[in-house]
Amino acid sequence: MKILIVGNGGREHAIGWSLQKDSRVSELYFAPGNAGTARIGTNLDMAATDLDSIAAWAEAEQPDLTVVGPEAPLCLGLVDRLYELGLKAFGPDKQAAQLEGSKVFTKNLMNLAKIPTAESAAFTDAKPALEYVVTAELPLVVKADGLAAGKGVLICQTREEAAQAIHLIMQDRQFGDAGHQVLIEEFLDGQEASIHAVTDGTDLVFFSPSQDHKRIFDGDQGPNTGGMGAYAPAPAVDAELLESVTESVFKPLLAAFREKGIRYQGVLYGGLMLTAQGPKVLEFNARFGDPETQVLLPLLETPLLDILLATVNGALSSIDFKVKPQSAMTVVMASPGYPDQPRTGDIISGLDKVESEDQFLFHAGTSGSPDAPVTAGGRVLAVTGIGPTLHDARGQAYAGIGKISFPDAQYRKDIGHRAL
Ligand code: AMP
Ligand code: GLY
Repeated sequence: MKILIVGNGGREHAIGWSLQKDSRVSELYFAPGNAGTARIGTNLDMAATDLDSIAAWAEAEQPDLTVVGPEAPLCLGLVDRLYELGLKAFGPDKQAAQLEGSKVFTKNLMNLAKIPTAESAAFTDAKPALEYVVTAELPLVVKADGLAAGKGVLICQTREEAAQAIHLIMQDRQFGDAGHQVLIEEFLDGQEASIHAVTDGTDLVFFSPSQDHKRIFDGDQGPNTGGMGAYAPAPAVDAELLESVTESVFKPLLAAFREKGIRYQGVLYGGLMLTAQGPKVLEFNARFGDPETQVLLPLLETPLLDILLATVNGALSSIDFKVKPQSAMTVVMASPGYPDQPRTGDIISGLDKVESEDQFLFHAGTSGSPDAPVTAGGRVLAVTGIGPTLHDARGQAYAGIGKISFPDAQYRKDIGHRAL
């Protein structure tokens, strides 16, 4: 089979790594990929959001399957474009991807389906939003409606901060078009957990619950990033809690989509707050998390290809979905200056020393020759370790990280601290 993977992060390298082990996969392409994906397939010089180029390539090359990694091409309608060409693609179409692309859309859907989530109000104008925060209970969470690279959520302790957040999002348009609407929410307190499911629109399979670490520095300090590390399974979500969330969140969500006449196929990645009143949804993503994918896929027992094909073919109920009874941890190495102004172009050494049965290297912001790559982005790479316990997985991940170096690399030393 010929497969195209869209994206250039550690997530896409991990998807490719998982598929390349499958004897049915003969050709792997990445658009645009990185120095790591160039070792296992062919990188195509086209951005993940360049729908015209990707569709033209797909029309000429007829891949058997396209896997769309990031949210931006999903929300722009890449899957719709591939469907129009009669091609198979894993991931929601444009209408369904609003689950991630519009927080107001998703809040309405959750309210319709009575899914537990924060109380909220949505506004298309700044004036009523500013009036609302004068009397609403503090703290407040002010969210830009659209995609904002994880930055459009502002937690406000005072009314002044909330008013500033509304100005920033709606008037200054700090997040561009994402700020055409705001959602103002009650603040939820508790521990966060992520649950990744895959659905064909009817049936669901669940990966191990995971937790990622968003802040740049140890002890969850400093600015937010795309994610500096992750581990699974997260003990915060046990089998009983997963069962309850399946019934209270995931099944009603799919029913609500069906009621709207929308077929959702692909990943449902739910971000939950485990509050004293039970789990409540913070957000949904319409794709695999990065770096969560780098822990979820190494734990898979069932071939990833079977899951992806069954999803696009609407046959997920036929899958015997199994994960290994093991733990995984991934640690991200980032460029100096990340997340604000990452420095790039530094030579990376030691990459050839990593990789064993329990240790895997995933490239993200790397470019150049696969044998002598240089840093090319904020998050440069991740090393995943697996083992019988989270402690073992941690040992493998950090042993791998210890072998790699580039000038002023940053990585967190405390991934998994909540569970260990
Ligand atoms: P979101 O993109 O909506 O998941 O928000 C990003 C992060 O903001 C979440 O992972 C939470 O840490 C935080 N957050 C979002 N909504 C709330 C809320 N209602 N209460 C408390 N924290 C929140
Ligand atoms: N690691 C968070 C995300 O992928 O959204």
